[in-house]
Amino acid sequence: MAKRIFIKTWGCQMNVLDSETLQGQFAAAGYSPGEGAEDADVIILNTCSVREHAENKVLSELGRLKSIKARRPEVTIVLAGCMAERLGPRIRARYPQVDIVLGTRRLGDCLRLVAESGGCGVFIGDEGESYPPRDVRQRASRVQAFVSVMRGCENYCAYCIVPYVRGRQASRPEGEIIDEIEALAEDGVREVTLLGQNVTAYGRDAGEKGALCRLLGRLEGIAGIEWVKFITSHPRDTGEDVFRAMRDLPKVCGYMHLPAQSGSDRILAAMKRGYTRSEYLAKVQLLRETAGDVSIAGDFIVGFPGETEGDFLETVDLVRKVGYKNSFIFKYSPREGTAASLLRDDVPVAEKKRRNNELLRIQAEASLSHNRSFVGRTVKVLVDGTEKKGGRRLSGRTAGEEIVIFEGPPDLVGGFSQVGITSATAITLFGEVAGGERRP
Ligand code: 5AD
Ligand code: SF4
Repeated sequence: MAKRIFIKTWGCQMNVLDSETLQGQFAAAGYSPGEGAEDADVIILNTCSVREHAENKVLSELGRLKSIKARRPEVTIVLAGCMAERLGPRIRARYPQVDIVLGTRRLGDCLRLVAESGGCGVFIGDEGESYPPRDVRQRASRVQAFVSVMRGCENYCAYCIVPYVRGRQASRPEGEIIDEIEALAEDGVREVTLLGQNVTAYGRDAGEKGALCRLLGRLEGIAGIEWVKFITSHPRDTGEDVFRAMRDLPKVCGYMHLPAQSGSDRILAAMKRGYTRSEYLAKVQLLRETAGDVSIAGDFIVGFPGETEGDFLETVDLVRKVGYKNSFIFKYSPREGTAASLLRDDVPVAEKKRRNNELLRIQAEASLSHNRSFVGRTVKVLVDGTEKKGGRRLSGRTAGEEIVIFEGPPDLVGGFSQVGITSATAITLFGEVAGGERRP
């Protein structure tokens, strides 16, 4: 009987993509996907270190796996990704049920290490970097795919663990990216999202300027791909050339994930973000003047060391001014080894929670008014499935990443539809099909 692999993933899209790549590597070696940890021969936890909360979830999962390992000592447990990189040997010392600790830059060794008896150990750092080749068929959506264009990050924002766990920025060669996207297009993908921790700085590590825009230009020529998105853009490295690409290149969608993190100059400086509140707002204005109706998403951290009520109110004001389609809002979590971890984490937990809830409430108002502006309009939607398993209504996304649930025939799944929007909540647009491509 084929051996079974089970992968559980935490963290960002980059991790989701890494897991799909690992899945492909094991599938090529004859493994079949397991239902869960219980019936798997190989269990991989692909982990995230961005906040303590993310790590705690993995640690409690390791607790559950302890009994599986006790019952079936032949199972191989791999702890992969950012936590592996951050904690290294500390993991196996405290959780001996883990066989292999595999860093973010060693994923290509996973299959070999699992196959080798006694392949146990800790494999981290940037020596012997190895990534599994991508099997483009291995992906969650029939019509949409993520494509990594760079690894690592060297912004060193004061709060952030990423440069320590994913290394310095390393852009993939343009040709390699294009080959991968052509293969995805051949497999039926209509939309690609380019992934990078600092995507608008693509190519900078190779001494290039404007490399993202050039890449976007080349993607215009790939038949089958109709929508191109890219995440995440650091405001400091995002400028008019990118906004113009959004305006001039028909496939490049009007969606921009442009994290501000805070609306207070004092906190932005302490975070070492490299821009001020007014520079950020000016960029948003230029983006809208250049590329028109762009949907902007944000990230915010509340309760950074030293954040006063006044600083927080500046963030609230910024959220109102920008009118984000949505924001990801986080409570500050000190990460060992980062510059901010040396500052006193002086905002009490209860206060972080209050600011978090308050900002969520403000953002929900902004999201609702953003979404309501679609009511009465007809929008183009890439249809990727039904609202839930067994559900009848169809679901998809717009060019601006708005989620749309609508009534329509099931053979629209896998293509583009025109949808008349009839109502909206802060999270979802609802509507009825007004036309679309039927798929066989
Ligand atoms: N604490 C809280 N949030 C953080 N983020 C990154 N590091 C931390 C931290 N130490 C948030 C930022 C980033 C997102 C991916 O996670 O908002 O954009
Ligand atoms: Fe988490 Fe950052 Fe690693 Fe992604 S890169 S998994 S967000 S720590």
